[in-house]
Amino acid sequence: MSEFAKIELDGKFYEFPIIEGTEGEKAIDIRTLRATTGHVTLDSGFGNTGSTFSEITFLNGETGILRYRGYPIEQLAEQSSFQEVAYLLNFGKLPSERELNSFKELINSFSTLHEGEKKIIEAFPTSAHPMGVIGSVVGSLSAYYPEYNLPMLTDEQRRKAIAQLMAQVKSIIPYFYRMTQGLEPVKSKPHMGYAADFLNMMYGSDDYEVNPEVAKALDVLLILHADHEQNCSASTVRLVGSSHANVFASISSGIYALWGQLHGGANQAVLEMLQNIHDNGGDYKKYLEKAKDKNDPFRLMGFGHRVYKNFDPRAKIIKKACDSVLESLGVSDPLLDIARGLEEEALKDPYFVERKLYPNVDFYSGIIYQALGIPTNMFTAMFVLGRLPGWLAQWKEMKEDPNARIGRPRQIYTGANERMYVPIDQR
Ligand code: SDX
Repeated sequence: MSEFAKIELDGKFYEFPIIEGTEGEKAIDIRTLRATTGHVTLDSGFGNTGSTFSEITFLNGETGILRYRGYPIEQLAEQSSFQEVAYLLNFGKLPSERELNSFKELINSFSTLHEGEKKIIEAFPTSAHPMGVIGSVVGSLSAYYPEYNLPMLTDEQRRKAIAQLMAQVKSIIPYFYRMTQGLEPVKSKPHMGYAADFLNMMYGSDDYEVNPEVAKALDVLLILHADHEQNCSASTVRLVGSSHANVFASISSGIYALWGQLHGGANQAVLEMLQNIHDNGGDYKKYLEKAKDKNDPFRLMGFGHRVYKNFDPRAKIIKKACDSVLESLGVSDPLLDIARGLEEEALKDPYFVERKLYPNVDFYSGIIYQALGIPTNMFTAMFVLGRLPGWLAQWKEMKEDPNARIGRPRQIYTGANERMYVPIDQR
């Protein structure tokens, strides 16, 4: 492998080092490009640009591989738990039983919402989208926990911030949900287990019992959503954190980035798309044609990915889980049949095949969330709950990087050249 990339500019030759990651990924290190050549690169959407070194998550879009700290997602989904995965992502290793229990206890210790947070949630109309509520409350936490409102935190403060946000968001979502249902909030019972406590806070009542199958399915979904390297929202968390804004501001920014339909908001958009196809007669082939029509804004939500040009391994696991969850709940969902039909048709349609468009994590997740009783407009909030430890791990890694700098991309200016101001009475 050559150690340098050689480029010629205006008759001069330059060399830039080639760097290689532990999984053989290669990059041209252009950190001296502008200083040595006076040129910048242009890469709208950053599809060809690495923003950082990272040891957290590895994914290979061509072969459909996803690993957290080297552990394959399939094994973690099968054998681990969400809180253990959160520990792994943030502290780089699988915890001992003692370490995991102490991490769980730390998370549990933050499960109660501050009275001020409750007032902020209650100030929202019940018609508000949960993502706006969660982002606002998380952003407000610096007011209630000023000790974290510092540019640099100690290791212990970072550990507490991670545990605190995982506990708080687990309580914020159900608090708002029950408000929209006109129900009194249910206190957290953290010792039920992370997913079970969440479900109990969402649906708890005298005759409600958390179904262990449902809690297990939710725990697996949270694992599958936990991190995905430098996606749009994780990059947002890093960019905001790079200015030394506090951890709550960084995570709140990630929540808002995830909201978009092209990103985490796709899980809600998929369910709405499937419901719309169902309500209009179920002719999913017609919608496939619409998705291919450049003049039609309709896109096949839950399909395609910036990185995966093969099956998203998470979609494969969720698709399999759909059957077992629906069966164990005795639920049959016509939308699942439509999803399967769409997938089958798309995977043999040249438009999708040529563009390597496969189902992504959002294509089937909404069907399970719906079967678990989660309302459609809360699907993306569930993505927040899952992605939180990943965002925190990315934020922590950036904070611990002695070479981290404030993120500040360049541009190519294409506006007006210099011109003189004209007073308004002369225009
Ligand atoms: C997530 O980055 C991550 O890791 C994200 C995520 C995570 O865990 O954090 O994996 C979670 O966000 C998954 C993606 C959820 N979004 C959706 O399902 C929305 C539908 N998908 C598309 O909007 C799109 O595929 C994106 C946004 C996911 C990716 O967009 P890109 O990489 O910018 O690709 P593109 O728009 O340039 O598409 C390339 C071609 C285009 O056609 P041509 O111009 O070449 O003719 O494929 C077409 C697109 O029109 N295309 C689609 C399509 N997705 C891409 N055509 C129809 N339906 C689609 N869904």
